[in-house]
Amino acid sequence: MNSKTVLFKENEKKNEVKKMFDSIAPKYDFLNRLLSAGIDNYWRKKTLKLADANENTILFDVACGTGDVAIMARKLGVKNIFGADFSHNMLSLFEVKSEWIKGKDIQIAAENIPVKDESFTLITVAFGVRNFYDIPAAFKEFQRVLKPGGKSAILEFRMPSNPVVKALYIFYFKNILPFFGKLISGHPTAYKYLPDSVEDFDKNVDLVKLFKEAGFTKAQRHSLTFGIAQVVIAEK
Ligand SMILES: C[S@@+](CC[C@H](N)C(=O)[O-])C[C@H]1O[C@@H](n2cnc3c(N)ncnc32)[C@H](O)[C@@H]1O
Repeated sequence: MNSKTVLFKENEKKNEVKKMFDSIAPKYDFLNRLLSAGIDNYWRKKTLKLADANENTILFDVACGTGDVAIMARKLGVKNIFGADFSHNMLSLFEVKSEWIKGKDIQIAAENIPVKDESFTLITVAFGVRNFYDIPAAFKEFQRVLKPGGKSAILEFRMPSNPVVKALYIFYFKNILPFFGKLISGHPTAYKYLPDSVEDFDKNVDLVKLFKEAGFTKAQRHSLTFGIAQVVIAEK
């Protein structure tokens, strides 16, 4: 990583990430739709389908933000939905978009979940895990609060391996996205942090390995859209 990289020191990550999402919350949904040309919702739907979300699912959407995974899950027929995020402003927008989540959303960190063991059948995290300050701790919590046979489904960006796709992706991610992200959100670095953290995460984090270390029996990676996104599903 060069000196212009926007990444947070381990001990500052929790507060800095929280501050960043509190700050960009009002523009978050608009920028998501614009900068991904709407494909982000297709990825959320695909994640829920790969995890076999259905009317019997008890879903806990962690790092739920403004609620787009939970909203998609409801469209797919999931009735029991809970959400968690440590950003107050992201959660408030979720409640504005979806009255039904009120009382079923909690402001907590993924690394410390104040919920009793074996409460859920599915935990989802979309574009959140890269921001966690302690992924092994979060995965241990996921393992604890999932019922036996429950699943955890992670949707996250990836660096594509195809050299042509990778070159286009890097150009877009490092030039166009930070420019419009800064212009519209007004945040100086949030949309530079996005590509920097994806690159860093891709180099250093193996989600399948981390799930196994947290005690999950199976963990499988699925590649989406030329490898620019991935879904990892792990089973308890
Ligand atoms: C890129 S947003 C994704 C929001 C939503 N899942 C979506 O699909 O649009 C990342 C979210 O993760 C939350 N987050 C990051 N680290 C977290 C942590 N350690 N515990 C709880 N929430 C966290 C942020 O506050 C933010 O709302």
